[in-house]
Amino acid sequence: MKVAVAGKGGVGKTLVAGTLARFLGQEKIQVLAVDADPTPTLATTLGIPPEVAEKIVPLTENDELVEERTGMDKKTYGGMFKLNPRVSDLAEKYGVPGPDNTTLLIAGTVTIGGAGCMCPAGALLKALIRHLIVGGDEAFVMDLEAGIENLGRGTSRGMDALIIVVEPGQTSINTVRRIKKLAHDIGVDTLFAVGNKVMDENDQEAIERSLKEMDVPLLTTIPFDKAIRHANLKGQAPIDFAPNSPAIQSIKDMIPELRRRLNTKASQS
Ligand SMILES: Nc1ncnc2c1ncn2[C@@H]1O[C@H](COP(=O)(O)OP(=O)(O)OP(=O)(O)O)[C@@H](O)[C@H]1O
Ligand SMILES: [Mg+2]
Repeated sequence: MKVAVAGKGGVGKTLVAGTLARFLGQEKIQVLAVDADPTPTLATTLGIPPEVAEKIVPLTENDELVEERTGMDKKTYGGMFKLNPRVSDLAEKYGVPGPDNTTLLIAGTVTIGGAGCMCPAGALLKALIRHLIVGGDEAFVMDLEAGIENLGRGTSRGMDALIIVVEPGQTSINTVRRIKKLAHDIGVDTLFAVGNKVMDENDQEAIERSLKEMDVPLLTTIPFDKAIRHANLKGQAPIDFAPNSPAIQSIKDMIPELRRRLNTKASQS
């Protein structure tokens, strides 16, 4: 399973990505969790202590690595550089182990002025996604920044699905529309949605209706849950702080549905 999680700022992407990674890991699957947000916060949600997380050097800021793998100075944008840097051992060398068979890679910033990135560091990240081979007992979960601009063409090959987190409200729903278009432009056509911070039936209906209109299947809806807020206040992983809370349980319940839909898709193609 190779999935990336996107959505408007603050909707709950990191909650979904980190908790999904942990649940998959609990099934004895080796999970590579990649934080591709320029402001990385996945470590906490995965349950990696802050003193460990602070020391992680993002891949794209590791000048030596970028230079070695792309054959180019990080500062040299554009021009020629090896497009297929070796990535198979990146996770092994630069990943930080987290609980439940997870490994965290922090990608770092690659977007330049919102126009995507032609820099070697960006090439490294794209190559990582494109070339990552994930076996049956492995999974890849990526926490994206608010947009998906830095994914670029070719990433679709490395991704089974894009999960868009949406909260009740027009701005978040409009973001789904925008992401859907961007995803289509880069060839990612398997999209799922997850509703989050749902407070009542009105919220639930609004989300269901909008996604139906956009033809994006809804995997689950996660209720607004104070335990998630509290975990955040305490700087703890929600799955550790409140494993039985309704929000965490809905993320658990989402997994069979995600698998079912991915299997259906696989058998159709
Ligand atoms: N179901 C929920 N119930 C209550 N609070 C929630 C819920 N989901 C997320 N939150 C809170 O909303 C905030 C944003 O969540 P999270 O960091 O997962 O979102 P994000 O989309 O990754 O944000 P960013 O765009 O900043 O990366 C956090 O403070 C989190 O605790
Ligand atoms: Mg986040």
